[in-house]
Amino acid sequence: MIHRLLYVSTADPEMKPSALEQIISTAQRRNAALEITGLLVYTGSHFMQLLEGPKDAVEAVFDMICQDPRHSAIARLIAEPAPARSCPEWSMALQVIDAANDGPGHVFTVSNETLASFLPESMAADLRVLFQSFNTMKRDIVAAE
Ligand SMILES: Cc1cc2nc3c(=O)[nH]c(=O)nc-3n(C[C@H](O)[C@H](O)[C@H](O)COP(=O)(O)O)c2cc1C
Repeated sequence: MIHRLLYVSTADPEMKPSALEQIISTAQRRNAALEITGLLVYTGSHFMQLLEGPKDAVEAVFDMICQDPRHSAIARLIAEPAPARSCPEWSMALQVIDAANDGPGHVFTVSNETLASFLPESMAADLRVLFQSFNTMKRDIVAAE
């Protein structure tokens, strides 16, 4: 069994797009060394991230991520054993989505449909549903803020 952890958080509104590249390159380097794999989805205002691997490593990296000032309001949705990895090929993949704000200023964004086709075949059904509904959830979160 591996350990899987899924959380959502609110990005620091001051965060520059270049910070994302930094986060991902650090994440890929450390995660590969710790046998962690996963996916980070960024909507322009919120994150959803899956971390999977040895339990101690996943929990240690999550503790570090929780200290990171580039996001806040971190809510852990899932932390449990899983029979297999959902993203075995990715030390940490990044997908930026923002269907709510499609426009010239959002050149890096993809639609929910593109996100759906990006998710690997190996992804567990429950995680697939959560990732695919994240953009809708995010609009609800923003509306409630
Ligand atoms: C949304 C988000 C996701 C992150 N994901 C990871 C991750 O998967 N693995 C990782 O090592 N660091 C991740 N980080 C970065 C850590 O929080 C931390 O800044 C970094 O690991 C510090 O490493 P350094 O001291 O070597 O620069 C993430 C940060 C943010 C804001």
